[in-house]
Amino acid sequence: MDTDWETVSLDVDDDVATLTVDRPDSLNALNTETMDALEAALDAAEEADVRVLVLTGAGDKAFVAGADIGYMQSLSTEEAEAYAEQGHTICRRLERFPGVTIAAVNGYAFGGGCELALACDLRVASERAVLGQTEIDLGIIPGWGGTQRLPALVGDEVARRLIFFGERIDAGDAYEHGLVGEVVAHDQLNDHVAEMATELAAKPKFAIRAAKEALNTAHEAPRDVGLDFERRAWSGLFGTPDQREGMEAFVEKRDPEFE
Ligand code: COA
Repeated sequence: MDTDWETVSLDVDDDVATLTVDRPDSLNALNTETMDALEAALDAAEEADVRVLVLTGAGDKAFVAGADIGYMQSLSTEEAEAYAEQGHTICRRLERFPGVTIAAVNGYAFGGGCELALACDLRVASERAVLGQTEIDLGIIPGWGGTQRLPALVGDEVARRLIFFGERIDAGDAYEHGLVGEVVAHDQLNDHVAEMATELAAKPKFAIRAAKEALNTAHEAPRDVGLDFERRAWSGLFGTPDQREGMEAFVEKRDPEFE
């Protein structure tokens, strides 16, 4: 199934959906039309009940070069608030998407683009990728979750440096900092992410979902709440067909086949 909006496309292939921000003339910067389309595409991906969602950018240069600076230039506080709220909603939806989300960072990922990647479960960068929370040089700060999600990945000191200096770092440095999990050759990015997606889509669906929720809780709630969530989620998986199959397959010394 393919669904296209003017600046976003969604390609659903069985259990894997690829959401592409498609505004290459502006390096996939997120104007409001693109933000609306992203929300619609997330609706469609959720409805398709996919197990993995890949997020990437169209063209050869950019993942997403950020929020649209031309649009932001003359925003009032109230308008900025609404724009931030929409950015937060999209990032939250990626974070809570009921399947694994992978950012295939194929080029520039600045500001809101970096924040979209941060909201995904996993980040794979092309060796051409350049990332950064560059807002400081526009007189603002990260506004779509960057101040909260970046330190969780790279640690507080590195996050402060990246945000205060507005530094643009290459894929190698992003990997060193833990901002991306992997760097691959540019022309291998799509194939590599597709392989990861296929492998993840074959994992037990409810166990993946429970693991994701428990891991999210580790960043969002006090330790006791997270531990309690994990215990209940763990127990809740017993009796599911995938739990039976996974353990039976181990005992019978064969590969499991999940639903
Ligand atoms: N918002 C709006 N438009 C953007 C944009 C953004 N965040 N990033 C790039 N564009 C537009 C440029 O204005 C330009 O449009 P034009 O051709 O109509 O002039 C087009 O995309 C190409 O960008 P350009 O700067 O000419 O390409 P480049 O290869 O020389 O540089 C970047 C690419 C990404 C390094 C540079 O565009 C840049 O620094 N962008 C801003 C990144 C940023 O700070 N993002 C955070 C926003 S919160």
